[in-house]
Amino acid sequence: MSENIETLQRSTRVIPAPPEMKAQAHIQDYETAYKASIADPEKFWEGIAKELHWFSPWHKVLEWNYPWAKWFLGATCNISYNCLDRHVQTWRRNKVAVIWVGEKGEERIFTYAELYRQVNKCANALKELGLTKGDRVTIYLPKIPEQIVAMLACARIGVIHSVVYSGFSAPALQTRIHDCESKVVITADVGYDRSKTIPLKPVVDEAVANCPTVEKVIVVQRETTSTPIQAPKEINWDDLLKDQSTKCEAEQLDAEDPLYILYTSGTTGKPKGVLHVHGGYMVGTYITTKYVFDLKEEDVFFCVADPGWVTGHSYIVYGPLLNGATILTAEGKPDYPNPGRWWDLIEHYGVSTFYTTPTAIRLLMKYGEDWPAKYDLSSLKILGSVGEPINPEAWEWFHRVTGGTKPIMDTWWQTETGAIMVTPLPCVDLKPGSATRPFLGIEADVTDREGNSIPHGGGFAVIKKPWPSMMRTIYKEPERYLLYWNTIPGVYTAGDVCHKDEDGYMWFMGRADDVVKVAGNRIGTAEVESALVSHKAVVEAAVIGKPHKTAGEMIKAFVILKQGQTESPDLIKELKNHVQQELGKIAAPREIDIVQSLPKTRSGKIMRRVLKAKELGQDPGDISTLDE
Ligand code: WTA
Repeated sequence: MSENIETLQRSTRVIPAPPEMKAQAHIQDYETAYKASIADPEKFWEGIAKELHWFSPWHKVLEWNYPWAKWFLGATCNISYNCLDRHVQTWRRNKVAVIWVGEKGEERIFTYAELYRQVNKCANALKELGLTKGDRVTIYLPKIPEQIVAMLACARIGVIHSVVYSGFSAPALQTRIHDCESKVVITADVGYDRSKTIPLKPVVDEAVANCPTVEKVIVVQRETTSTPIQAPKEINWDDLLKDQSTKCEAEQLDAEDPLYILYTSGTTGKPKGVLHVHGGYMVGTYITTKYVFDLKEEDVFFCVADPGWVTGHSYIVYGPLLNGATILTAEGKPDYPNPGRWWDLIEHYGVSTFYTTPTAIRLLMKYGEDWPAKYDLSSLKILGSVGEPINPEAWEWFHRVTGGTKPIMDTWWQTETGAIMVTPLPCVDLKPGSATRPFLGIEADVTDREGNSIPHGGGFAVIKKPWPSMMRTIYKEPERYLLYWNTIPGVYTAGDVCHKDEDGYMWFMGRADDVVKVAGNRIGTAEVESALVSHKAVVEAAVIGKPHKTAGEMIKAFVILKQGQTESPDLIKELKNHVQQELGKIAAPREIDIVQSLPKTRSGKIMRRVLKAKELGQDPGDISTLDE
């Protein structure tokens, strides 16, 4: 990374906040609210926390022992109680909590009371299997309601969930089960993808064969023709839940008790188990959902993420349910069975908030404006984007096809931050391509390598003070947690490069480290490299991210073959398949070049940025450490 961060071309258009929306928004004046919030962040967060239910109060809001934070000390709470019991005790009892639409068009609707019953049954079932507070459960499910039920059930009894995206392959799943020593894995026989049936159970079988901690595998059977499950280790979800009581008291947990571990890619081969806790995470996801999307009682909230990623955790499950909202969630791809799929759902269910990704928008752009034009999208009120920078062209398209008046909340955050950090609110003037300003209570900034604030210009995205929904550690690897707070002195370093303009608007420009964002999913270059090197023909590999029209970035690999191996199209294909087997489809390189050598530092570290600059025809910057 060179010292001077290049600034990309940006849109100069300013779109004023719609006055009628501003007039009825939860927050109507950002400047005033923001100033007040950061003048005394503890007071601000405490005020928000009081909107939720605590079994017993805190005696201190924050204990900050740099860089270790504890929030709401001494308080007891349970996020599942706040998502369910709090609503079931009111008129929301029969309000719709979840509308789920399957790949084949099936519909399942859960009121708050029904979701509560299912979660309680599942929680009792997990207890019956011997799980107790602090145990870990891996959830490897397709996007079906059982995924939500299982997460809330774990939370209810203080069991820590680790949701693994169902596109991951057996070795990737195995690493993730192994690391957190799960006692139970919850899975399904199959998932569906563009009408293809994807077997999941065999993936679990392969992974679990090498995970001695796993005592039970719970299987949701979606197909009648699936292979029968093997008792006693395997149990059918329906059989297990059938006779369970619909009452299971939520465990009164310490605010700092762990809620979940979510594995995410970092700069080394091993994924990082980001750990979040009940209290602070609940406060952060609750208030960001409410303010950013200006959530009102009658809204229908449609977030297209998969709960296998953090966006699904925070903005399908926890944030919206904490607010008592109605959520719509749909299995399947945006262009299957046709590119009208999501627009159709928006019309059919009267969606008011539509939270999606730049990759999906760019995919839909390819099919043209006729598709959205076929549907009545007038129910939409607020749009959202997350996961990667949204280019102004995609922003303008999304804005135009949805009526030209709905504000787009370009929300910047990370698995580690738990909740949205930099984002517009509906009362903020927008600039297409900018995530605008920090959320209330969040001191985000752009600094140089030494941590000096940059008034305007390019630098590193940092957060200067602790916030409630921040990760508490990297599971079993506190030294990796410390890196976030030690890279630039005194602040949390996100690993993103960012430009701050004259108005203080933040423009996120991508990662500064070796993480590639493929269709919004974080892939560590090191993980792909080690998968490549595990192939018998490969001696060394280097992986970079390369701009891609739809996916934002794609993976390109440079590979050195072992002596005696010869380059051929078949071998390239085999290497791509090999990575797919090892990690899953999303991590497979789209391009592989066979090379004789790789640029390295004198100490032997591969200089990926040199490869990248060469590939993109750019100036490699400072190459004084290059060995050659
Ligand atoms: C990127 C996803 C630009 C960024 C919630 C960050 C974004 C990484 C945006 C975290 C955005 C996320 N604009 N870049 N609005 N949102 N990113 O952990 O590089 O999967 O560091 O969390 O996504 O990815 P993660």
